[in-house]
Amino acid sequence: MGVAVGDASRIIFLHLLLLLSSRCHGMSHMDHLMMDPQSMIFFTLDDLRPGKTMPIYFPKRHPSSSPHFLPRAEAESIPFSSRDLPHLLDLFSFSSGSPQAKAMEETLKHCEAGPIKGETKSCATSLESMLDFVRGILGGGSPRFRAISTSHLIESSTRFQNYTILEAPRGVPASKMVACHTLPYPYAIFYCHSQESENRVFEVVLGAENGDRVKAVAVCHMDTSQWNHDHPSFRVLGIEPGTTPVCHFFPADNLVWVPNAPTQSMM
Ligand SMILES: *[C@@H]1O[C@H](CO)[C@@H](O)[C@H](O)[C@H]1NC(C)=O
Repeated sequence: MGVAVGDASRIIFLHLLLLLSSRCHGMSHMDHLMMDPQSMIFFTLDDLRPGKTMPIYFPKRHPSSSPHFLPRAEAESIPFSSRDLPHLLDLFSFSSGSPQAKAMEETLKHCEAGPIKGETKSCATSLESMLDFVRGILGGGSPRFRAISTSHLIESSTRFQNYTILEAPRGVPASKMVACHTLPYPYAIFYCHSQESENRVFEVVLGAENGDRVKAVAVCHMDTSQWNHDHPSFRVLGIEPGTTPVCHFFPADNLVWVPNAPTQSMM
């Protein structure tokens, strides 16, 4: 088989599966007091100030141990569509009905779903196709964009705890941005999307009582009027679509692409 899927990739893939299935479970029940910690990434623009303390969930997924990108030629030689799922399961030796098969199916469906109004989306199956998509949105030429991501300055195994904003959040100048999220699959798949409506990007230094330090990337969506009413953020924040900006933190293995500003301006 030409497709190399290392053990580490498989382990991470399974780990992502567990995350996904517990997340789906959490979303299906309505008890606000039993809020799923994994949806604790949302906050409002008003929360973005030094001294603010809030519970935040950071999945400890490492870019270094996540599934690897395939070279573009190899990725493009493998079908990437729900139609081909039976063949793909054969290729990766997963039995149909297995959790892995379910996750692959969900990832493919997620990638095949149409964009919401004002959104451009694409699932990148290689680094090159991610860069093509980003270039298409942010503009081409010499390196005119860069990726920022959340970094854990001090690591512990705690995923869900209270964090306090330690410094004034730094606004990252970005007239446009592309957010790329990992999806569970046997090789690296990034779901990248960009919205026409206004977004603001921030770098936020967070500290926890146990000594954890995180330089977190956050995005505030200023207009959520087109979002699905069932979006978890509305339940977590107790708000309605389109009423107030919704912000969220990114896990460490996600990428936010922003234009490369020659000089950094203040927020
Ligand atoms: C955060 O702090 C509040 C207030 O002290 C506490 O009730 C809550 O359990 C803490 N949350 C977490 C996730 O530790």
